[in-house]
Amino acid sequence: MPALYVFDAYGTLFDVHAAVNRHAGKIGPDAARFSQVWRAKQLEYSWVLGLCGRYEPFWRLTERALDYAFESFPAVDPSLRASLLDAYRALDAYPEAPAALERLRAGGAMTAVLSNGDAAMLNDAVTSAGLGPLLDAALSVEEAGVFKTHPRAYALVTERFGVNAGEIAFVSSNRWDVAGAAAFGFAAIWLNRAGAPDEYRDLAPRRVIATLQEL
Ligand code: LAC
Repeated sequence: MPALYVFDAYGTLFDVHAAVNRHAGKIGPDAARFSQVWRAKQLEYSWVLGLCGRYEPFWRLTERALDYAFESFPAVDPSLRASLLDAYRALDAYPEAPAALERLRAGGAMTAVLSNGDAAMLNDAVTSAGLGPLLDAALSVEEAGVFKTHPRAYALVTERFGVNAGEIAFVSSNRWDVAGAAAFGFAAIWLNRAGAPDEYRDLAPRRVIATLQEL
């Protein structure tokens, strides 16, 4: 059993669609697609900035991606902006997340988060979901000034814990993040909740699970 389990935050421990779901009635029939665009643009901005050698806090990218979603769906009421951003600061954790973390810790493993989220937004998410006591660390790539999938972002974990990459289980629902973690040398675990098709086959996970309960 690995001595350390590291989790991606958004999409893995926290449901990124919970913000839109909370206001779905007011958003209307495009709510699910609106949320997908918001998430897709947020991630795209992180990768493009990374390739340009630039860094900005993930929160700013989250705001810009939301503004893009509003422009893409003119029927959605832009006065929801503040409520959606507030909801994103306090996303629901997936219901099985606390028990999964507790079980790993009871088995003697350490647990941590490594997220593209900047320290302030990550801290808000961890605190509002009550996951703080179940984590040895919540690491933000802000410290490295570069987003995943840059190796310097993953290196924050090996530097903090002094554990070899190969002995660290890295769990993410984001297949691109699993690819980055595998490239770095982590024992990557893909949490494939939705049964999505595989990608990045040269950067394969050690294990694929459908729910955190399988850890
Ligand atoms: C994270 C997002 C990008 O790193 O999934 O938490």
